[in-house]
Amino acid sequence: MRIVLGVTGGIAAYKTPELVRRLQDAGAEVRVIVTEAGAHFVSPLSLAVVSNHGVVTDQWKDTGHGGVDHIELARWAEILLIAPATANIIAKLAYGIADDQLSTYALAHRGPVVVAPAMNTQMLLHPTVGENLRKLQARGVDVIEPDAGLLACGDEGAGRMPDPPVLIERVRSHFGARDLEGLNLLVTAGPTREAIDPVRYISNRSSGKMGYAIAEAARRRGAKVTLVSGPTMLTVPAGVTLQQVTTATEMRDAVLSAAPTQQIVIKAAAVADFAPVTVAETKIKKSTDGGGLTLELKRNPDILAELSQLTPHPFIVAFAAETNDVTENAREKLRRKGADLIVANDVSNRSIGFDAENNEALVLGKDGSETRIPFSSKRAVAERILDLVGARLKTKT
Ligand code: PMT
Repeated sequence: MRIVLGVTGGIAAYKTPELVRRLQDAGAEVRVIVTEAGAHFVSPLSLAVVSNHGVVTDQWKDTGHGGVDHIELARWAEILLIAPATANIIAKLAYGIADDQLSTYALAHRGPVVVAPAMNTQMLLHPTVGENLRKLQARGVDVIEPDAGLLACGDEGAGRMPDPPVLIERVRSHFGARDLEGLNLLVTAGPTREAIDPVRYISNRSSGKMGYAIAEAARRRGAKVTLVSGPTMLTVPAGVTLQQVTTATEMRDAVLSAAPTQQIVIKAAAVADFAPVTVAETKIKKSTDGGGLTLELKRNPDILAELSQLTPHPFIVAFAAETNDVTENAREKLRRKGADLIVANDVSNRSIGFDAENNEALVLGKDGSETRIPFSSKRAVAERILDLVGARLKTKT
């Protein structure tokens, strides 16, 4: 991996010599560009010593990369990682400003860009910073969520640059094989909402993170990805086609109409099994006698069951959200629902599953295989699931 590391003026810049060393340990070659502000937080000399190369600190000074630094580096590099990334560099990237060595390089760079925003929480929450980050994400820039916790300025909240291992995992994820090149892959994600009246609905705690991570990883691995998503707060991964739905019935219609053109369908969505038999036209009033409210519910379509009855049907990966007897319940669901793989996760464990950053799963195959995916980020779990899908599709062809 040939990495250009851009270092800007955040306190987390002091971690960058360690980051360079860890990247090298992971097999990368690293060239460093430090902005003027970045050089206030970390000495370019220490970065030069660790990276064993001249550090670009001034766009008007040749740093010995041969020729004009930003052009030569762009010819050499495979990926640009900006860590820490200040609000300033994020804005410059968003608007294509090139008035220093790093922003100029960014315009010459070809290949993936990974950005690790790090700043005071108030700055991170400023609408302009959010708009600029979303602009970058829409362009396919991989933005790493900052950690939350005690910040250098003494504030508590989001804005801390994640530790080197997290940054390295993200960089590495851009070097995976494009083993899904040319395949159509549909992912469902998020909850569904089943209306009770114009104000109230039944739903669940799915955030969509698992499904969105799969969609993003599949796109990066070359698949043409359609994301059928219930209501979430997430940004749609760049290059992914979104179909927004609300109810289980809408999700069913979207999945079944797309299914004939898909080679792979991955159903990470938490589809409501029930919906109110009737949806009140107006907001249901509380009874004056303090009495409760009884709702009569009907079964929703079982999308997975219908999908697996199509002939031919795509390679199907189902999920199983279990709270007890996880393996047995998942095995039974796999048998009953006709999926090719089922990803069983224990959603009684709050550190994984619904709305968690991480997950842990046991993947059961129709072929009798059992693969444990240990506790890790949903991105890493997504990569492992796609590894299993890719391996089976290869044997199918
Ligand atoms: O979204 P996150 O916050 O990241 O949380 C991730 C997750 C916990 C939602 C995810 O990992 C997960 O487990 N998704 C499946 C949730 C679920 O509905 O599981 P289930 O065991 O109830 O359903 C089994 C399978 O049938 C699932 O693939 C589901 O999409 C599908 N299903 C369920 C009901 C229904 N009416 N139609 C379906 O197709």
